[in-house]
Amino acid sequence: MESSVQAHYDTPNLIQTIDAGLLAAEKDPDRIHISDLAMVDQLHTGGSRATMDLAARITILPDWHVLDAGCGLGGSSRLLAHTFGCRVTGIDLSPSFIDTAQILTQRTGLFQKVAFQTGSILDMPWDDDQFSAVLCQHILMNIENKPAALKEIFRVLKPGGILMLHEIVLGENTGLALPVPWADAADISFLAAWETLAACCSDVGFVLDEMTDATKTGCRYWQKVRAFAEKTAPGTRPLGPHLVFGENALSFPFTMSENFENNSIRLIEAFLKKP
Ligand SMILES: C[S@@+](CC[C@H](N)C(=O)[O-])C[C@H]1O[C@@H](n2cnc3c(N)ncnc32)[C@H](O)[C@@H]1O
Repeated sequence: MESSVQAHYDTPNLIQTIDAGLLAAEKDPDRIHISDLAMVDQLHTGGSRATMDLAARITILPDWHVLDAGCGLGGSSRLLAHTFGCRVTGIDLSPSFIDTAQILTQRTGLFQKVAFQTGSILDMPWDDDQFSAVLCQHILMNIENKPAALKEIFRVLKPGGILMLHEIVLGENTGLALPVPWADAADISFLAAWETLAACCSDVGFVLDEMTDATKTGCRYWQKVRAFAEKTAPGTRPLGPHLVFGENALSFPFTMSENFENNSIRLIEAFLKKP
Protein backbone atom coordinates (compact mmCIF):
# COMPACT_ATOMS: atom_id res chain seq x y z
CA MET A 1 0.00 0.00 0.00
CA GLU A 2 2.86 2.38 0.80
CA SER A 3 4.08 2.00 -2.79
CA SER A 4 0.72 3.24 -4.13
CA VAL A 5 0.87 6.23 -1.77
CA GLN A 6 4.46 6.92 -2.82
CA ALA A 7 3.47 6.70 -6.49
CA HIS A 8 0.69 9.24 -5.87
CA TYR A 9 3.16 11.84 -4.59
CA ASP A 10 6.46 11.07 -6.29
CA THR A 11 6.96 13.64 -9.04
CA PRO A 12 9.71 13.44 -11.66
CA ASN A 13 11.78 16.58 -12.30
CA LEU A 14 10.12 18.37 -9.40
CA ILE A 15 12.89 20.86 -8.67
CA GLN A 16 13.10 21.79 -12.37
CA THR A 17 9.33 22.34 -12.44
CA ILE A 18 9.43 24.49 -9.29
CA ASP A 19 12.37 26.49 -10.65
CA ALA A 20 10.46 27.17 -13.88
CA GLY A 21 7.52 28.40 -11.75
CA LEU A 22 9.77 30.63 -9.67
CA LEU A 23 11.35 32.13 -12.80
CA ALA A 24 7.89 32.71 -14.31
CA ALA A 25 6.98 34.50 -11.06
CA GLU A 26 10.12 36.63 -11.54
CA LYS A 27 11.96 35.11 -8.58
CA ASP A 28 15.55 33.95 -8.69
CA PRO A 29 15.50 30.25 -7.62
CA ASP A 30 18.95 30.69 -6.05
CA ARG A 31 17.86 33.65 -3.90
CA ILE A 32 14.59 32.59 -2.38
CA HIS A 33 12.99 33.31 0.97
CA ILE A 34 10.69 30.71 2.51
CA SER A 35 7.72 33.00 1.79
CA ASP A 36 8.44 32.70 -1.97
CA LEU A 37 7.70 28.98 -1.72
CA ALA A 38 4.46 29.18 0.26
CA MET A 39 2.22 28.58 -2.78
CA VAL A 40 4.07 25.34 -3.52
CA ASP A 41 5.50 23.80 -0.36
CA GLN A 42 2.52 23.95 2.04
CA LEU A 43 0.59 20.82 1.07
CA HIS A 44 -2.24 21.21 3.57
CA THR A 45 -5.45 23.14 4.18
CA GLY A 46 -4.79 26.71 5.26
CA GLY A 47 -1.21 26.99 3.99
CA SER A 48 1.57 28.52 6.10
CA ARG A 49 -0.92 30.54 8.16
CA ALA A 50 -2.49 27.31 9.46
CA THR A 51 0.95 25.99 10.45
CA MET A 52 1.80 29.23 12.25
CA ASP A 53 -1.57 29.36 14.05
CA LEU A 54 -1.08 25.75 15.18
CA ALA A 55 2.51 26.23 16.37
CA ALA A 56 1.64 29.47 18.16
CA ARG A 57 -0.58 27.53 20.54
CA ILE A 58 2.45 25.90 22.19
CA THR A 59 5.85 27.34 23.08
CA ILE A 60 8.45 25.88 20.71
CA LEU A 61 11.88 26.59 22.19
CA PRO A 62 15.13 27.10 20.21
CA ASP A 63 16.70 24.02 21.85
CA TRP A 64 13.87 21.76 20.70
CA HIS A 65 14.29 19.11 18.03
CA VAL A 66 10.99 18.78 16.16
CA LEU A 67 10.06 15.89 13.87
CA ASP A 68 7.93 16.76 10.82
CA ALA A 69 6.33 13.37 10.14
CA GLY A 70 5.37 13.12 6.45
CA CYS A 71 7.05 16.45 5.73
CA GLY A 72 6.29 16.63 1.99
CA LEU A 73 8.50 19.35 0.48
CA GLY A 74 9.55 20.49 3.97
CA GLY A 75 7.58 23.74 3.93
CA SER A 76 6.50 23.47 7.56
CA SER A 77 9.93 22.18 8.63
CA ARG A 78 11.55 25.34 7.25
CA LEU A 79 8.80 27.58 8.65
CA LEU A 80 9.18 26.20 12.20
CA ALA A 81 13.00 26.40 12.13
CA HIS A 82 12.92 29.93 10.70
CA THR A 83 10.30 31.18 13.18
CA PHE A 84 11.36 29.47 16.41
CA GLY A 85 15.06 28.76 15.80
CA CYS A 86 14.51 25.07 16.65
CA ARG A 87 16.06 22.10 14.84
CA VAL A 88 13.65 20.21 12.60
CA THR A 89 14.00 16.83 10.93
CA GLY A 90 11.51 15.84 8.27
CA ILE A 91 10.77 12.31 7.11
CA ASP A 92 8.75 11.42 4.00
CA LEU A 93 8.01 8.36 1.94
CA SER A 94 8.63 10.07 -1.41
CA PRO A 95 12.27 10.31 -2.52
CA SER A 96 11.55 13.13 -4.98
CA PHE A 97 9.93 15.17 -2.18
CA ILE A 98 12.93 14.66 0.10
CA ASP A 99 15.44 15.51 -2.68
CA THR A 100 13.49 18.68 -3.42
CA ALA A 101 13.10 19.55 0.29
CA GLN A 102 16.88 19.32 0.69
CA ILE A 103 17.61 21.60 -2.28
CA LEU A 104 15.03 24.21 -1.21
CA THR A 105 16.38 24.15 2.36
CA GLN A 106 19.94 24.66 1.13
CA ARG A 107 18.82 27.59 -0.99
CA THR A 108 16.88 29.25 1.84
CA GLY A 109 19.95 29.03 4.10
CA LEU A 110 18.27 26.82 6.69
CA PHE A 111 20.36 23.69 6.18
CA GLN A 112 22.07 23.98 9.59
CA LYS A 113 18.72 23.72 11.34
CA VAL A 114 16.71 21.46 9.03
CA ALA A 115 17.49 17.94 7.83
CA PHE A 116 15.50 15.37 5.89
CA GLN A 117 15.29 11.62 5.65
CA THR A 118 13.49 9.36 3.17
CA GLY A 119 11.44 6.70 4.93
CA SER A 120 8.13 5.68 6.42
CA ILE A 121 6.76 6.94 9.69
CA LEU A 122 5.72 3.32 10.32
CA ASP A 123 9.38 2.39 10.84
CA MET A 124 11.58 5.35 11.69
CA PRO A 125 15.38 5.17 11.93
CA TRP A 126 15.69 6.97 15.27
CA ASP A 127 16.23 5.75 18.82
CA ASP A 128 13.52 6.12 21.43
CA ASP A 129 12.85 9.47 23.17
CA GLN A 130 14.54 11.76 20.61
CA PHE A 131 12.14 14.58 19.76
CA SER A 132 10.56 17.36 21.83
CA ALA A 133 7.59 17.55 19.47
CA VAL A 134 6.20 15.82 16.41
CA LEU A 135 4.17 17.62 13.75
CA CYS A 136 1.73 15.32 11.98
CA GLN A 137 0.14 17.48 9.30
CA HIS A 138 -2.19 16.02 6.68
CA ILE A 139 -0.53 12.61 6.56
CA LEU A 140 -2.62 10.17 8.58
CA MET A 141 -5.28 10.14 5.87
CA ASN A 142 -2.76 8.22 3.74
CA ILE A 143 -1.99 5.70 6.48
CA GLU A 144 -4.10 2.60 6.87
CA ASN A 145 -2.38 1.30 10.02
CA LYS A 146 -2.86 4.30 12.28
CA PRO A 147 -2.11 2.43 15.53
CA ALA A 148 1.33 1.43 14.13
CA ALA A 149 2.09 5.01 13.01
CA LEU A 150 1.04 6.49 16.35
CA LYS A 151 3.00 3.87 18.30
CA GLU A 152 6.12 4.77 16.32
CA ILE A 153 5.58 8.51 16.86
CA PHE A 154 5.07 7.87 20.59
CA ARG A 155 8.32 5.86 20.68
CA VAL A 156 10.53 8.62 19.20
CA LEU A 157 8.98 11.42 21.32
CA LYS A 158 10.69 12.32 24.58
CA PRO A 159 8.63 11.88 27.75
CA GLY A 160 6.70 15.15 28.09
CA GLY A 161 6.93 15.61 24.30
CA ILE A 162 4.01 16.96 22.29
CA LEU A 163 2.25 15.53 19.25
CA MET A 164 0.70 18.29 17.13
CA LEU A 165 -2.02 16.96 14.86
CA HIS A 166 -3.35 18.98 11.92
CA GLU A 167 -5.38 16.41 10.10
CA ILE A 168 -8.33 15.84 7.82
CA VAL A 169 -10.72 13.33 9.37
CA LEU A 170 -13.91 11.62 8.27
CA GLY A 171 -17.10 13.65 8.48
CA GLU A 172 -20.57 12.28 9.09
CA ASN A 173 -21.28 11.57 5.42
CA THR A 174 -19.44 9.09 3.30
CA GLY A 175 -18.75 9.65 -0.38
CA LEU A 176 -15.57 11.57 -1.04
CA ALA A 177 -15.36 13.75 -4.16
CA LEU A 178 -12.05 12.96 -5.88
CA PRO A 179 -9.33 13.82 -6.64
CA VAL A 180 -8.18 15.33 -3.34
CA PRO A 181 -4.57 16.26 -2.55
CA TRP A 182 -3.91 13.01 -0.70
CA ALA A 183 -5.60 10.66 -3.17
CA ASP A 184 -6.67 10.49 -6.79
CA ALA A 185 -8.48 7.20 -6.10
CA ALA A 186 -10.31 5.92 -3.03
CA ASP A 187 -7.87 3.03 -2.42
CA ILE A 188 -5.18 5.29 -0.90
CA SER A 189 -7.51 7.42 1.23
CA PHE A 190 -7.82 6.15 4.80
CA LEU A 191 -9.88 8.78 6.54
CA ALA A 192 -10.84 7.94 10.11
CA ALA A 193 -13.33 9.71 12.34
CA TRP A 194 -11.78 11.91 15.04
CA GLU A 195 -13.22 9.62 17.72
CA THR A 196 -11.38 6.62 16.16
CA LEU A 197 -8.13 8.58 15.86
CA ALA A 198 -8.41 9.85 19.43
CA ALA A 199 -8.95 6.28 20.66
CA CYS A 200 -5.84 5.09 18.73
CA CYS A 201 -3.80 7.91 20.32
CA SER A 202 -5.04 7.03 23.77
CA ASP A 203 -4.38 3.29 23.21
CA VAL A 204 -0.68 3.92 22.50
CA GLY A 205 -0.36 6.10 25.61
CA PHE A 206 -0.97 9.69 24.48
CA VAL A 207 -2.92 12.04 26.73
CA LEU A 208 -5.13 14.54 24.92
CA ASP A 209 -4.48 18.16 25.99
CA GLU A 210 -6.71 19.96 23.53
CA MET A 211 -8.70 19.37 20.35
CA THR A 212 -10.13 22.11 18.15
CA ASP A 213 -12.58 21.43 15.36
CA ALA A 214 -11.24 23.71 12.60
CA THR A 215 -13.73 22.47 9.97
CA LYS A 216 -15.37 25.88 9.42
CA THR A 217 -11.99 27.55 8.92
CA GLY A 218 -10.91 24.76 6.55
CA CYS A 219 -14.15 25.02 4.57
CA ARG A 220 -13.82 28.82 4.26
CA TYR A 221 -10.22 28.41 3.10
CA TRP A 222 -11.21 26.09 0.24
CA GLN A 223 -14.26 28.23 -0.67
CA LYS A 224 -11.91 31.20 -1.10
CA VAL A 225 -9.53 29.10 -3.20
CA ARG A 226 -12.53 27.96 -5.27
CA ALA A 227 -13.77 31.55 -5.77
CA PHE A 228 -10.28 32.50 -6.95
CA ALA A 229 -10.12 29.48 -9.29
CA GLU A 230 -13.51 30.36 -10.78
CA LYS A 231 -12.32 33.77 -11.90
CA THR A 232 -8.80 32.78 -12.97
CA ALA A 233 -7.99 30.95 -16.19
CA PRO A 234 -6.39 27.54 -15.43
CA GLY A 235 -2.63 27.49 -15.66
CA THR A 236 -2.17 31.27 -15.51
CA ARG A 237 -0.63 31.32 -12.02
CA PRO A 238 3.07 30.46 -12.17
CA LEU A 239 3.24 29.09 -8.60
CA GLY A 240 0.74 26.72 -7.05
CA PRO A 241 0.05 23.10 -6.12
CA HIS A 242 -0.21 22.20 -9.84
CA LEU A 243 3.61 22.21 -9.88
CA VAL A 244 3.47 19.22 -7.52
CA PHE A 245 0.16 17.53 -8.36
CA GLY A 246 -0.20 18.41 -12.07
CA GLU A 247 -3.66 18.74 -13.67
CA ASN A 248 -5.40 17.16 -10.67
CA ALA A 249 -4.63 20.28 -8.63
CA LEU A 250 -7.08 22.23 -10.80
CA SER A 251 -9.89 20.11 -9.29
CA PHE A 252 -8.85 20.45 -5.63
CA PRO A 253 -10.61 23.80 -4.97
CA PHE A 254 -13.90 22.24 -6.13
CA THR A 255 -13.62 18.76 -4.60
CA MET A 256 -12.25 20.01 -1.28
CA SER A 257 -14.92 22.67 -0.80
CA GLU A 258 -17.60 20.14 -1.83
CA ASN A 259 -16.24 17.58 0.66
CA PHE A 260 -16.27 20.15 3.47
CA GLU A 261 -19.71 21.50 2.52
CA ASN A 262 -21.14 17.93 2.37
CA ASN A 263 -19.63 17.08 5.76
CA SER A 264 -17.64 14.25 4.17
CA ILE A 265 -14.50 15.59 5.84
CA ARG A 266 -13.59 17.61 8.94
CA LEU A 267 -10.39 19.42 9.91
CA ILE A 268 -9.01 18.95 13.39
CA GLU A 269 -6.13 20.45 15.34
CA ALA A 270 -5.06 18.57 18.44
CA PHE A 271 -2.25 18.55 21.00
CA LEU A 272 -1.40 15.31 22.76
CA LYS A 273 1.29 14.60 25.31
CA LYS A 274 3.54 11.60 25.93
CA PRO A 275 3.45 11.38 29.73
C1 LIG B 1 -0.75 15.84 1.86
S1 LIG B 1 1.00 15.62 1.98
C2 LIG B 1 1.39 16.68 3.36
C3 LIG B 1 2.85 17.04 3.39
C4 LIG B 1 3.25 17.98 4.53
N1 LIG B 1 2.96 17.42 5.82
C5 LIG B 1 2.59 19.31 4.38
O1 LIG B 1 1.61 19.55 5.11
O2 LIG B 1 3.03 20.12 3.55
C6 LIG B 1 1.16 14.00 2.70
C7 LIG B 1 2.61 13.53 2.77
O3 LIG B 1 2.66 12.35 3.56
C8 LIG B 1 3.66 11.50 3.00
N2 LIG B 1 3.42 10.15 3.48
C9 LIG B 1 2.35 9.35 3.27
N3 LIG B 1 2.50 8.17 3.91
C10 LIG B 1 3.70 8.22 4.55
C11 LIG B 1 4.41 7.33 5.39
N4 LIG B 1 3.94 6.12 5.69
N5 LIG B 1 5.60 7.72 5.89
C12 LIG B 1 6.11 8.94 5.58
N6 LIG B 1 5.48 9.83 4.78
C13 LIG B 1 4.29 9.48 4.27
C14 LIG B 1 3.50 11.69 1.52
O4 LIG B 1 4.64 11.26 0.79
C15 LIG B 1 3.23 13.20 1.43
O5 LIG B 1 4.42 13.93 1.29
